This record gives sequence, structure tokens and C-alpha cells, in this order.
Amino acid sequence: MRTASSWRASDIVAAGSVSRSVSSGYYLGLLSGTSADGIDAAIVDFSGRSPRVIQALTQPLDVELRQRVLALMQRGAFAQSGASFNWPAINALDQRLGKHFAKAALSCIQQAGLEPGAICAIGLHGQTVFHQPLTPNPGSWQLGSTFVLAQATGIPVVSQFRQMDMALGGQGAPLAPVLHQALFARNDRDVAVVNLGGIANVSWLGRGGRIVGFDTGPANCLLDEWAQQHLGRQYDDGGRWAASGHVIPDLLRTLSQDDYFRQPAPKSTGRERFNQHWLQQHLQRLSSAPRPEDVQATLLELTAWSVAQAIDNLRQTPAKPLDVIVCGGGAHNQFLLDRLSCLLNTIVVSSARRGVDPDYLEAVLFAWLAKQRWQGQQIDLRAITGSSRPHLAGIIVRP
Ligand SMILES: Nc1ncnc2c1ncn2[C@@H]1O[C@H](COP(=O)(O)OP(=O)(O)O)[C@@H](O)[C@H]1O
Ligand SMILES: [Mg+2]
Repeated sequence: MRTASSWRASDIVAAGSVSRSVSSGYYLGLLSGTSADGIDAAIVDFSGRSPRVIQALTQPLDVELRQRVLALMQRGAFAQSGASFNWPAINALDQRLGKHFAKAALSCIQQAGLEPGAICAIGLHGQTVFHQPLTPNPGSWQLGSTFVLAQATGIPVVSQFRQMDMALGGQGAPLAPVLHQALFARNDRDVAVVNLGGIANVSWLGRGGRIVGFDTGPANCLLDEWAQQHLGRQYDDGGRWAASGHVIPDLLRTLSQDDYFRQPAPKSTGRERFNQHWLQQHLQRLSSAPRPEDVQATLLELTAWSVAQAIDNLRQTPAKPLDVIVCGGGAHNQFLLDRLSCLLNTIVVSSARRGVDPDYLEAVLFAWLAKQRWQGQQIDLRAITGSSRPHLAGIIVRP
């Protein structure tokens, strides 16, 4: 069997070159990220010499459902003192998201011209609403019922990919570096892969096979919310609004003093930490009311700075060649890429330039993780999450 470590980005064939033959090697990856912008689905064919994305789509979350997801994350329903447990609402969200995941999976299967029976298993990440490692009772909760999805599609579902890692003392995140290594690692140079989702994470793929991966801090989660409040748009397209503002040095200084940025890896974070409440606390310390576009410029700079300093700390020999590859929705934010490139003093390219659509890399990851679990293959996250041993990631629910 071909292992992931022998894949190359050029092996991933974009959606469009559809093989309609029923194959035992088709797996479907499904997730909704921290941005809660939509459900990403990708069908990946692992039966050949190389994996191929044969169909992929994003199904937007409707406004009301997205608000409920964000409210639950924001409130840190389980974490903040005084927050109440609204179990009927949490359960309803779990069920509704399960149905939405099923709809996205079935649409993707239909668009590929396949029958559900052609898919070996679905890898469901779900929607994270709580992620808290490094506490006496660490945990990571994803909503979107595995059981609803399995029943609605008739396909076995693998889910809960983070929980065993956490039970083994790991952070449970990030999981993407194993796929990044398989796709992008090189013998002749170091490679940094930056995933700019709601939260940003970096995978460091050293020439000698060294792999490090961790969340660097906020990315789109703060940018999106500020843009929604002040522009009335879901996000700041291309970072153009941020580019029209000026960084507020006092604000950038206090934001960047958050302990998280100084913590050593392994580390992972989420909206429990980086949210509007966190931003408001810092804004209140300013001597005068800031212009909204200047706050956006500062948040974008904070993202670029936190990613760049994480990479610089890993880059023992700055003169040596380094590839910086960006994926996730933030790969479409040209101003953010420009700032990152400037701070790192190196070229930053979208993963599209390496043959992988930046919007579907994580969906491919969950398809691959489903395959690993389905075939009884362990994954080794020790160097990334700090878990104590390789393990089988995920549980299987059959329809
Ligand atoms: N053209 C664009 N310009 C700026 N930002 C964009 C653009 N397209 C997408 N994004 C950002 O990407 C986010 C979605 O990224 P994604 O990788 O799906 O994050 P997550 O994994 O957290 O859901 C959007 O919410 C938005 O902030
Ligand atoms: Mg998303």
C-alpha cells in the first residue's frame, strides 16, 4: 500500500477530472472550521498510485445557524464561570448540524456522479464548539451528530479524531501537519505550511524530517467579526479594508503581549480565548476611540506577526532557503499574504501553486484520517501534539 509520506502535491488532481467508476478507495472528508463559514466536503480517491480529489464543495451555513454556532463558541458555554448549560439548544445544534453535514456529503456524492455505496467511509470532523487542552479535565467537543450522518447517508462514519490524542496527554490539535508533511516536505529545504482558518496553525517540515505543528493564534475569527460589525460583510475581501487603515501601535503591543504567543509548542487554541470579549478588553485601554479600519489593520498585523514570529523561532538558519505555503480561506487575503511575506522576508505562495486547492486541504485531511482509521492504521502525533504514543484516531459508527 502506498503510504501518505510518499504523496506529492502534484499527485492531487483537482476537482473536475472525475472518475465515475465505483472504487473501494473513495473516502469523503467533512468539516466546518472555526470560522463557521460553511461545511467543506471532499471525496478523495485513495485507490490509485496517488490520492485524487474527485469532487469538492463548500455548503455555506445559513445565517441563523452560524449565529447559534458562534454564540455557543463565544460564550464558552462550558468554560466561562457563570455560563449556563442550555442542553436543549446544544442538542438541537448537534442534530441540525448532523443533517447539514449529511446534505453536504450527499450533494458532493451526487455532483461526483456516484452512489453513496461507492464511499468506504466518511471522515467527519464536525464543528468544534469547545477546545481546551492543558487543564485538569482537557476536552474537545465537536457538534454534528455522527449517528444522524451515518443514518442519512447509509455510509459508515469515522469521527472524534482528537479525543484519543487528548486522552494520551496531547493537545488534540493540530492534525493537519501529518498531511502537510505527506504533501509538501522536501529534502533540499525547510518548508512552513500556514493554515489561515479562523485560527492559524503552522506546520514546520524540516529538511531532516523534523516536524513541528501548532496553532499560532487568531486569524480570520477576529478579522471576520470586526468586518461584520463595521462593514456589514462576512469578511474583508482581499484584506482591502485592513489595507486602508493604519496599525495602532499601542493596540498591537498589548494584543501581542497575550501569554499564548510566548507559550512553547505544543499548543492549540480557539475562540474560547481569542474572541470579541478579548478584543474589547484591549480596546477599552486605548486613550481614544479608534477608527474601525485601523483596528482591522491592527488585527491583520497581529495575525501576520504571530505567524511570522512562530516561523522565525523555528528557522534556525534564516539564510537557508525556506518555502512558505499558505492554505485555508486566509490564502485569499492578499494583504495578509503581503504582510507575512514582508515580515518573513521571503516569498509566500498559496497551496494552489503546489497543486492543492487551499479551500479543501482540511477536507482531504479528514478523508485521509477516515481511511487510516478504517484500515486500522495508527497515526503518530507525538512531535506535534505531545501525545504519548501513536494511536488509532477516531471511532467508527456504522449505519
Ligand atoms: N477573498 C477573501 N478575502 C479575505 N478573506 C477571505 C477570502 N475568502 C475567504 N476568506 C476568509 O477565509 C475564511 C474561511 O476560511 P476557512 O479556511 O474555511 O476557515 P475555517 O477552517 O476556520 O472555517 C472566511 O471566513 C474569511 O475570513
Ligand atoms: Mg471554513
